[in-house]
Order: sequence, then structure tokens, then C-alpha cells
Amino acid sequence: MLNSKIVGLGHYVPERVVTNEELSGMMDTNNEWIIERTGIEQRRFIDPAKDTVANMAAKATHMALERANLNVSDIDFIVFATITPDYFFPGSGVLLQRELGLESIGALDIRNACSGFIYALSTADAFIKTGMYKTILVIGAEIQSTALDLTTRGRNTAVIFGDGAGAAILQASDHKGVLSTHLHSDGRFAEELYVKDPGSSRPHAERQPEQILDTSSFKVHMNGSMVFKHAVVRFSEVIMEALEANKLQKDEIDLLIPHQANLRISQFIQKKFELPDDKVYNNIMRYGNTTAGSIPIAMSEAFGEGKIKSGDLICLAAFGSGFTWASALIRWS
Ligand code: ACO
Repeated sequence: MLNSKIVGLGHYVPERVVTNEELSGMMDTNNEWIIERTGIEQRRFIDPAKDTVANMAAKATHMALERANLNVSDIDFIVFATITPDYFFPGSGVLLQRELGLESIGALDIRNACSGFIYALSTADAFIKTGMYKTILVIGAEIQSTALDLTTRGRNTAVIFGDGAGAAILQASDHKGVLSTHLHSDGRFAEELYVKDPGSSRPHAERQPEQILDTSSFKVHMNGSMVFKHAVVRFSEVIMEALEANKLQKDEIDLLIPHQANLRISQFIQKKFELPDDKVYNNIMRYGNTTAGSIPIAMSEAFGEGKIKSGDLICLAAFGSGFTWASALIRWS
């Protein structure tokens, strides 16, 4: 069987920095509340005249290709994780394919929210292991800011989310880079963290935009305490599952990169696995929660800071809407 490994990482975040102070001017919130509950100090919001999910992903891709010493034409396939595509349909994969000038390669969208990047990585890994493709571009990218309710009504989610994109190039290799991936879901909790519209579950009369009076169903609904309770359990389980599948111990992890949901969740996992600070990478303080973008942005930054070295065991873990949760173990080379 063939193996896959990540040969390049890249990221892009919009220029506009939005501080907690700025949000406090728009809604009844404050810096202390946000930092204490989430760890977030600032996030990036797009400039709608400049940024789209697809062009942010393209910028992240160019960085990843440069680091991998590859060209756009080397990419055989795209797997694009996002829950905020530029259009309701088609997905963002095809827009990125167009943006990169790749004429006819396949492009697949993955809609698994915060777990989206690991689902995408797992899908790409499986394609490579079958021999179907050699070089796959894996993206996690989101624009959350334009959908946030930036008033006091929306403050429980508005302070959490941000925009950004990350890219990983996965290639067939003799070296076993991706050791294993583990994917899970539990749809019983779908409505605990979701955006209902524009869904197809409504009757015809209610799906005509001119008939919709209450537009709150287009905003994120989150049962924060329920998400927190499930997240800490599922993160732990899925990390253990990955370690056991590879007969590895928790102290063999060189770097844990958790989905940047909330600093309190990351700290809980760090404590549970007794990992020192230098073995857990967090950047939610600077970018907020960028959903599918968070893990590849964090990986790319960690790589840039020299925190991912040859031989390291990297553990990725995520939990989010669905509920879905996932992990991946990677031996870097
Ligand atoms: N600023 C000030 N006050 C606020 C804000 C805000 N931004 N948001 C909510 N409040 C108020 C509430 O209205 C409530 O007031 P009340 O007591 O007068 O009714 C009070 O703060 C407490 O509200 P809770 O929702 O109970 O706040 P909690 O302490 O649970 O913190 C949080 C909310 C941070 C979302 C928490 O539930 C949490 O960490 N949940 C985990 C979910 C998460 O991190 N999601 C991230 C995105 S999803 C993902 O990536 C998996």
C-alpha cells in the first residue's frame, strides 16, 4: 500500500484585525469576559472587496506550494473543507480550481465544520493510498465574519469566530507520514450547533426569501455549555483512539494541534494528557475560531516557527458541529 505525507503547509489571514475592544463598541461585551471564557484577544475579518473563501485558499495554496517546491500544475485533486462557501452552490473547490488556473482536475467540498480539515485530510490520504492521485491540495477555509450577528443578540457567538484559510499539500511517499485518521459523528446533536438556513427542510412557501421575516435562522445557533461538555469528552477519546491504533503513548506526542475552538477546551485537553506548554500549539488568541481553517492555519504557523521538525509525532484533533469529531497522527519527515 502507498503512503502519504504532507510536503507543504501554507496559510492566509485577512489584514483587518478586530480586537475585543472594537467588538465591545458594537455589542454589550468586554475584553475581560471574552478572554476569560475563550482566550481570544483578536480575530481577522475579511474586506469583502478583496477576500473570498476561494481567493484566501489560493493565497494559502501558493505559500504551501512554495514551501514544498512544487508548482500549481503538480496538483492532481482538491479537497476543500468549508461551511462558509462563497456560493450556496457550487462548492468552493471548483472556485479554487478556477482561481489556480487548473483546467479540469476534480474538486471535492467537505462540510464537516470544525472537523472539516481532518475529514478532508483523511479523504485525501485514502485517495493517495488507493493510487488514484499523487498530489492532493487539502484546504480548510472560512469567512464567518459576514454572517455574524454583531449586536448584543448575537454576542455568544460573534466574539468567537474569525476568518482565514490554511492549505496542506499531501503527496504519495515511501515515508509513512499520515499514520492514521479517525472520524466520528453523532447527528443526534445536529441542532446544538448549526445554521438552519438556507436549508431545504422548510416547505416551499417558507423558502422564498421575500417571505422570511425572522432571519435569525441564518445565524449560528450554539448551545455553548452542551458543546463544551461534549467537546472535552470527544477530544480526549479520539486522541486516545489514535494513540492506541498506533501503539503509541501520550508522552510520545511532540506537538498537539487541537482545533482552535476555545482556549479553555485546549487547556482542558492539555491537562488531561499531561502535556507541557511547548507540546500544544494554540493561536486562537490572535485569530479566534476559524472553524475548518483553524488546524491548517495553526499547522502552517507552527511549521513557520520551527515547531514541527523531522521525526516529530504530530497529533491533530477536532470537535464541532454535527456533532463531528476526528483525529490524525502524523510522523513528520
Ligand atoms: N459578552 C458578555 N456576556 C456574554 C457574552 C459576551 N460575548 N456572551 C454571553 N454572555 C452572557 C450570557 O448572556 C449570560 O448572561 P446571563 O447569565 O445574564 O444570562 C452569561 O454571559 C453566561 O452565558 P453562557 O452562555 O452560560 O456563557 P458561558 O460561561 O457558558 O460561556 C461560551 C459561553 C464561551 C460559549 C462557553 O459556553 C463555551 O466555552 N462553550 C464551548 C463552545 C465553544 O467554544 N464553541 C466554539 C465554537 S464551536 C466549535 O468550534 C466546536
